[in-house]
Amino acid sequence: MFLAFEGADGAGKSTQVQLLAEYLERQGREVLICREPGGTELGEKLRGILLDPDSGDMGPEAEVLLFMAARAQLCSRVIRPALEAGKVVISDRFLWSSVVYQGIVGGLGIEEVLSIGRVATGGLLPELTFLIDLDPAVSHSSLDEGDRMERRGLDFQREVREGFAGLVADFSDSFALIDGSGSVEQVHEQVIKALPQKQS
Ligand code: TYD
Repeated sequence: MFLAFEGADGAGKSTQVQLLAEYLERQGREVLICREPGGTELGEKLRGILLDPDSGDMGPEAEVLLFMAARAQLCSRVIRPALEAGKVVISDRFLWSSVVYQGIVGGLGIEEVLSIGRVATGGLLPELTFLIDLDPAVSHSSLDEGDRMERRGLDFQREVREGFAGLVADFSDSFALIDGSGSVEQVHEQVIKALPQKQS
């Protein structure tokens, strides 16, 4: 079982990843958590480059390929072996992030990014992705601080939110839309309710 969380920066994904992992462990499942970009030695180095404000100007083409390189390594070295060992894998972001950030907001195109993604992942996609939807005006408190991605500001985060909303409409079978505006516990409740039947 492969699950992922998506959403604009600061939507509370990592807390929810942790809570879901604890819930599934209480059900007796072995759970592996990973985050993108990262999760391997190479992936963490690429993460450093991608988030470093000193990396300077980076076009969406170079950017998507760096994210995909990290993803390819994570898939082949970590996610696939864990799934084969019968674990539940929960990823904090996955391919849909590239589709939104580089494909829609960055302008590369949805199909183009999905197509590079098929090479990077060998066709592996989460069975379900929880999209935590939250108004960036609420989640994005400091616009001038933070890493290279977070410095892009509120308008960028709004485009990201709209991009994800469009994807959920077009690929509704792949997503569970979660209202991120409630308390941590309320959001977690929605996640549990949306779990594929065999897990809940
Ligand atoms: P991170 O600090 O992990 O952010 P968050 O806590 O919001 O997940 O930084 C990841 C940043 O990289 C985030 O701004 C989203 C962006 N990103 C992409 O642009 N494309 C991608 O494929 C991925 C995985 C992330």
